[in-house]
Amino acid sequence: MSETKRGSFTSSLGFVLAAAGSAVGLGNLWRFPYLAAKDGGGLFLFVYLILALTFGFALMTTEIAIGRKTKKSPLEAYKSLDSRFGWLGWAAAVVPSLILPYYCVIGGWVCKYAVTYLTGNGASAVDATGGFFYDVIGAGSSMWAPVFWLVLFVGATAAVVFFGVEKGIEKCSKVLMPALLVIILALAAYSVTLKDPESGRTAIDGLKIYLVPSFEGLTVTKFFGVVLDAMGQLFYSLSLAMGIMITYGSYMKDDSNMGKSINQIEIFDTFIAFTAGLIMIPTVYCFLGTDGLSAAGPSLMFISLPQVFGSMGTMGTFVGSAFFVLVIFAALTSSVSIMEAVVSMVMEKTKLTRHTACAVVTIGALAIGLVTCFGYNIFYFEATFASVSGGQILDILDWFTNNLMMPIVAIATCVLVGWFFGTDKILDEVKKTGDKFGRQNLYVVMTKYVSPVLLLIILLNSFGVFSFLG
Ligand code: PHE
Repeated sequence: MSETKRGSFTSSLGFVLAAAGSAVGLGNLWRFPYLAAKDGGGLFLFVYLILALTFGFALMTTEIAIGRKTKKSPLEAYKSLDSRFGWLGWAAAVVPSLILPYYCVIGGWVCKYAVTYLTGNGASAVDATGGFFYDVIGAGSSMWAPVFWLVLFVGATAAVVFFGVEKGIEKCSKVLMPALLVIILALAAYSVTLKDPESGRTAIDGLKIYLVPSFEGLTVTKFFGVVLDAMGQLFYSLSLAMGIMITYGSYMKDDSNMGKSINQIEIFDTFIAFTAGLIMIPTVYCFLGTDGLSAAGPSLMFISLPQVFGSMGTMGTFVGSAFFVLVIFAALTSSVSIMEAVVSMVMEKTKLTRHTACAVVTIGALAIGLVTCFGYNIFYFEATFASVSGGQILDILDWFTNNLMMPIVAIATCVLVGWFFGTDKILDEVKKTGDKFGRQNLYVVMTKYVSPVLLLIILLNSFGVFSFLG
């Protein structure tokens, strides 16, 4: 594709909102609060913030700068920096191609919950044993229900990508991201006023768990666990190592202030994660106590929260509706970014038009998504390996991409930039507009030395190497 035909964001704001749209996703809303509650509240927040300003900042700068400098999709971008790194483009291509289908499967579940609440049937989602959730994922009565929602979610994602960078992605982000901000702030403001008449617990008690650093029983090994959790979360939350920031960076205008945009994306992402914690932790603690908070991942959002909404009476319908609409917005802007990364690679490699490439990718995502849905019925099995226990197809795809491929891609990216291509050329790209860019030495030290080591620790942790630490 010729340079002139490449799409581009019309403004820095458009770029920031689209990249923040990618970064803000399911990870911010369900995983961040869960980890914060588990890892000593304020202690986790503090560690996360330090890592965001160092580790996250350096990786994000590298990816966005590679994108803008090369103006290529991830598939070709790495190769054009150094011909020995062509394989890295393929590795980076595999990640979004596999994440897209299963992310859309989860997006489909969220749509089902949103519609349930919006139609006033929220009460049916209250089921402490998880019966409603099992039906939604297809493990219960109908194996086709999740397929319907998958098609809907993939269709919505494709509809945005189909219209391209400015008319699709940028327009959609400019509407959904501010809306997301308004909803999440309203929900947080409401959440902190709650009180459970039965137990007498208030949201303020929950807030303390979230915000006050807890050093209770803290040992060096436990602290290491907190750092590991924060690192893994940060890395996923900023949509790094999946080719996305390279793709979006390639659409960034040459005269945009990159350093400032990176700060804004990080602030937005961290702020939304923090605010999600202000909603989740106080409400769940208030109505379900400490036990409720220990529910991890999907069960926190799909089983515990509906119970909480159920305890709110009539308000529960409104709050539940607003919450799941918020999750749809967050998930949709993320899935759009994943699909765009794949579509950009297909367009570049095959010279297909955007519309045809989009159709091809949609069909591929639906096919793998369908198999993923059937993982809960016809292809049901329970896999246990590394850090996965009793997982289905979705868990395996998730493990393979997040725990294996992403750290490898990120390590290789740091080595490529730090040791072969040169951090100075990346910094030149960042600073080419003449704007000030702070933390330059930090960037170099992180990219060459610290980040590869941290990423290696993340990778080893995926294989349970540190499980002896408890
Ligand atoms: N960053 C997103 C989140 O925190 C996750 C994501 C995954 C985004 C895959 C895009 C692609 O939820």
